[in-house]
Amino acid sequence: MRTPIVAGNWKMNTTLADATALARDVRAGVDGVVGVTTVVCPPAVSIVPVSMALEGSSVHVGAQDVSANPPGAHTGELSAGMLAGLCTFVIVGHSERRAMYCEDDRSTAAKAKAALAAGLRPILCVGEPLEVRENGRAESFVTSQIEGSLTGISDISQISIAYEPVWAIGSDRAASPEIAQEMAAMIRGAVADLYSKAVSERLPVLYGGSVNAGNCASFAAAPDIDGALVGGASLDGHEFAQIVHAAASV
Ligand code: 13P
Repeated sequence: MRTPIVAGNWKMNTTLADATALARDVRAGVDGVVGVTTVVCPPAVSIVPVSMALEGSSVHVGAQDVSANPPGAHTGELSAGMLAGLCTFVIVGHSERRAMYCEDDRSTAAKAKAALAAGLRPILCVGEPLEVRENGRAESFVTSQIEGSLTGISDISQISIAYEPVWAIGSDRAASPEIAQEMAAMIRGAVADLYSKAVSERLPVLYGGSVNAGNCASFAAAPDIDGALVGGASLDGHEFAQIVHAAASV
C-alpha cells in the first residue's frame, strides 16, 4: 500500500509574508487528514519561516532545487546538507529547470544523489514536451529521462517520481486521467525493469500539470497515481487542502 504524496510547488511566488500566511492556511486546511503525505515547497528564502509556521503539524516542507556539489565556491547555490537541516523533501529535474537552466538527466541524477546522501527525499520530475507526444515518442522519452536521472542510484526507497507533461504545466490543459494513468503505469514498468517489481510497487508516482480542486479526484482514483505535484493551485491554501483531502479519501 503506497501513501500518496501531495506536494505544492510554489515556484518563484510569495513574499515572506505571503508564504507564512499560505503555510498557515494549508495547516488549517489539512489539519487531521490521514493517509496522505502533504508537502509544501516554498521559495528557498521562506523555507525557515514556513517550517516554523508548520511546526507540530503533519505538513512537510521541501525545497524546489538543490546543488549537486559539496559546500564551497558555488555562488548562489544551496547544498543538500544545508537544506537537510531545514526541510525533508526536494524537487529535482523540474521541467522549468531543464528548459530554462540547462539541466539535464545527468545533473538531475547528481542532484538526486546529493539529496539522498544528505537524507533528503527527492521528488524527481519527468515529462515530455508537446512535440514529443505528438510524434508518438512520449513513452521512450520519459523512459530515457528515468534511466538517465536515476543513473548511479542503487536505492530509490526515498525517491518519488512526478510525471509532469510539459504541455500540461500552467496551461489549464491537464492530461486526461487516462493518459496520466497510462504514463504512471509505464513509469512503474520502467522502474521495475531498472530495479525490481517489488521496488516499483513501492514507488510513489505523482501526476503534475494543471491539477486543481476540480480535477484532482479523477487523478486520485487512478490506480498507478499516488498523489500530485501542484503548481498554481497550491498558492491557494483552501484549494490545495481540497486536493490533499481528495488524495486521502481514495
Ligand atoms: P501547475 O499546477 O501550475 O500546472 O504546475 C505544475 C508544476 O509544474 C508543479 O511542479
